[in-house]
Parts: sequence; structure tokens; C-alpha cells
Amino acid sequence: MANVLCIGAGYVGGPTMAVIAKNCPGHRVVVVDINAEKIAAWNSERLPIYEPGLDEVVRTARGRNLFFSADIGPNIAEADIIFVSVNTPTKTFGHGAGRAADLQYWEKTARQILENSTSSKVVVEKSTLPVRTAQAMERILNSNDRGLHFDVVSNPEFLAEGTAIQDMEQPDRVLVGARQTASGREAMQAIVDIYAEWVPRERIITANLWSSELSKLVANAFLAQRVSSINAIANLCEKTEADVAEVAHAVGTDSRIGPRFLRASVGFGGSCFKKDILNLVYLCEHYGLPEVAAYWEQVVKMNEYQGTSFVQKMVAAMFNTVAGKRIALLGAAFKANTSDTRESPALAVCRGLLEERASVVITDPYALANAQADLGEQAEQVVFEPDPYVAARDAHAIAVLTEWSHFVELDYEAIFQSMVKPAFVFDGRNILDHKKLHAIGFNVYAVGKPPLTNFTA
Ligand SMILES: NC(=O)c1ccc[n+]([C@@H]2O[C@H](COP(=O)([O-])OP(=O)(O)OC[C@H]3O[C@@H](n4cnc5c(N)ncnc54)[C@H](O)[C@@H]3O)[C@@H](O)[C@H]2O)c1
Repeated sequence: MANVLCIGAGYVGGPTMAVIAKNCPGHRVVVVDINAEKIAAWNSERLPIYEPGLDEVVRTARGRNLFFSADIGPNIAEADIIFVSVNTPTKTFGHGAGRAADLQYWEKTARQILENSTSSKVVVEKSTLPVRTAQAMERILNSNDRGLHFDVVSNPEFLAEGTAIQDMEQPDRVLVGARQTASGREAMQAIVDIYAEWVPRERIITANLWSSELSKLVANAFLAQRVSSINAIANLCEKTEADVAEVAHAVGTDSRIGPRFLRASVGFGGSCFKKDILNLVYLCEHYGLPEVAAYWEQVVKMNEYQGTSFVQKMVAAMFNTVAGKRIALLGAAFKANTSDTRESPALAVCRGLLEERASVVITDPYALANAQADLGEQAEQVVFEPDPYVAARDAHAIAVLTEWSHFVELDYEAIFQSMVKPAFVFDGRNILDHKKLHAIGFNVYAVGKPPLTNFTA
């Protein structure tokens, strides 16, 4: 039996450790966090994050071999293996501000581990980090004069919010990177053995430390690049009466390209894509590769354009003014099936509409509290309404910004009746039945498709 500890009980630490505990009943798994309120929520009936299937997994293992605690020091002392999944946001100050990763939480954790350790340990990088961070971690940890030895292993997390439990239970792959030394290989094996309890061995990839660290950044850069690529083409479709869904289908059926991540939209969001690409950009610049940096930076710029141009298209369609007009935003979460609003395009659109002095109301099944917090002072100008029918009442327009399936099933006939005419729908996720909406009487604008309007002149 191993004592497994995870430092950081966020979107990654909580779900990943719950799945490890569920599948490894022989190990004791403790998750700690500096945020005592979050730990209290993990110990309650209302978990701090919404993720399909999470409640069941936590219920199976919590109190058996899964524990959440705010008591960090003693749990470090007892642990054999420590996963670190603290936040690594983009730096907002000093050199590299706006691009480089802010490693202050990471480094504090390393020092905390060192301070509280009385035995040698394996430390696992679960957070997404710049390539070669493990070297800094090793240097801090092995600077002790107590004869303690620490092996640092990279095990980046590839889960996607909204499908985190499924992604963890049946991962495409698990990646474990370590130093190619005797103790490095032993540490790597200890982590491989944990996953091998439920993941087929051929899906557990081992690599050198630096390849492992870099692979996570590259995976996110490639995923985001596909979104920006199809969104770039969506803009051209709008100018040429091509339909981006038809183009994506025709292109995606090429087996070399594949169909996934080719849905045009108002843009990608979430805490990771932008931050990880900017981190990659910074690394390329740091290593003297400005052309490579510029290539990847364009993926982020394209995404920002997608949000601002969506607002511009709304304003243009609504007779060049939205000032004072009630506009209902369907969705605040950055994607469906999560309560997370970090970097959500919905909030970017909301801010853009507020600048145009629109009267904005946002509806979302799980993300309203986070949206309110993320909007800060601007939240005072926004109405947060859990009921989409109430949100749409007396609105000039509705805009779909998160692909929640229940938005597809709403009674749009009733919504149309309750709205100001002419009524507009802006489908930023291309999920609604546009022909049906058009037939009801809406003026329908989707991404990368010709608009369907009911104007006669
Ligand atoms: N969210 C995702 O979908 C996702 C997916 C893959 C990888 N990642 C990476 O995983 C890491 C964590 O992401 P997240 O979304 O879980 O972040 P999060 O902000 O939800 O959680 C991080 C947690 O770490 C805690 N923390 C910070 N410093 C601490 C310390 N010294 N001691 C104890 N706890 C501390 C914070 O209080 C917070 O609860 C990031 O590096 C992220 O890039 C995230």
C-alpha cells in the first residue's frame, strides 16, 4: 500500500485523485489544499465543481481510501508519492508578463514539501508546466542536508472538463516521464503501477522528462490550433456563402485530418488553451525561435478575433446599435457540462456587449455564480437568471454561447412570442435548428453560415 498525496484540490486534483482512489482501493489517497472552504466542500454533499459522474466516484471512495484535508504539513510527512496539481496561471507581472507561466504556487509547494518531509519521496508534476521545470523542482528538493532524496516525475493531465471522469477512467493515453537513471526509472514504475490498476498497459506511455513536460503544451496547442483553423475558415465562409459545417465535414472525412475539433464557434475558452499556448510562445522566444513563437501566437490572436467579431456581427445585424436593448446570453460556462467560466468566450461577448451599452442577461444551469465572480465590477450591470425563458422575455436577441444540450430542446416558439420584434438569434455554437428558427420568425445568424433573415426589404 502506498500513501498518495495530492497538493491542489481544483478541477484536476479533485477528480483525478477520486478516480485513482476508486480504482486503487489498496492505496490511501489524500487531497490537500490551502483553501479550507474548498476542502470543506469536497467533504460535503455539494462538491466545489460540477463534473458529470464525479459525485458517484467521490461517494464510492470518500472515507474509504479517499480523504480531503486542509492539514498540509502532516500529510506531506506521511506521503510516499506526492502529486502536485496547483494552479500555474499566466504571469501578470515582471518579465514574461502575459505569456510565461507564473510558477510561484508551484515553487511554494516544492518548498513546503521539503520543509515537511522526513523521508524520501516521489514528486509528480500533474500541473501543466514549462518544459524543464522538473529540473528546478529537483534542485530545490534535493538541496536538503538531511539525506532525503526526491525523484521528480512528469505525469501531465489530459482530461477535458465536462468529460473528466470518462477521460480518466478510459484515457486515450497516460504519459509518464522521468529521468533515465536507476532511481528515476523506479519512480516512473511506481506511477505506471498506479495507472496499470485500470488502464491497459499499452496506453501508458513512458518518456524522458522533457518530452513529457513538452507534450502537454503541444497537445493543447494542436487542439486549439484546430479550433482556430476552422474558425478562420468560418470567416471566409461568411463572405462567400459557403457553409462551414459542410466544409468541416468534407475536410474532416479525410482520415489524415479526422472529424473532431472542427466545429466552428465563437471560440475556445477554459483555463488551459490560451495559457498553455502563450507559455509555448514564451518558451520559443526564450530559446531564440521568434518565427516559431509567432506561428503559435496566431492561434490565440485568431481566437480573440472570433469573440470580438461575433459582437461586431451582432451589433451590425441589429441595425448598428444594441444600446439599451435586452440581450439574453444562453450559457456562461466555457463549454457544456462544466461550471467553469475561466476564459469563457461567453464572458468576452458579455463584456463586448456591455461596452456597446446593451442590457445583458445571462442564463446557465451551473455556471452563474462563477460568471458573476469572474465579471467582477461589471457583474453589477448584468442580470443572472437561471431560467432561460425568463432571460429571453422582452429581449431583442438571444445568443447561444455554451453548447449545453438543453438549449437545443427549449420551446423556441414560446421564446419568440415573448421577445421584442424583430427577434434575433445568434448561434455562437452552431447547435440550434436554424431552418426551424427561421420558420418561426427569427432572424438567425450562425457562425460560418449564410444568415437566415425574415426581412422583406
Ligand atoms: N482544468 C483543466 O481542465 C486542466 C486539465 C489539464 C491540466 N490542467 C493543469 O492542472 C493544474 C491545475 O489546474 P486546475 O484547473 O485544477 O486549477 P485550480 O485553480 O482549479 O486548482 C488549483 C488548486 O491548487 C490550490 N493551491 C495553490 N497553491 C497551493 C499550495 N501551495 N498548497 C496547497 N494547495 C494549493 C489552489 O487553492 C486551488 O484549489 C494547472 O497547471 C492546469 O494547467 C488543468
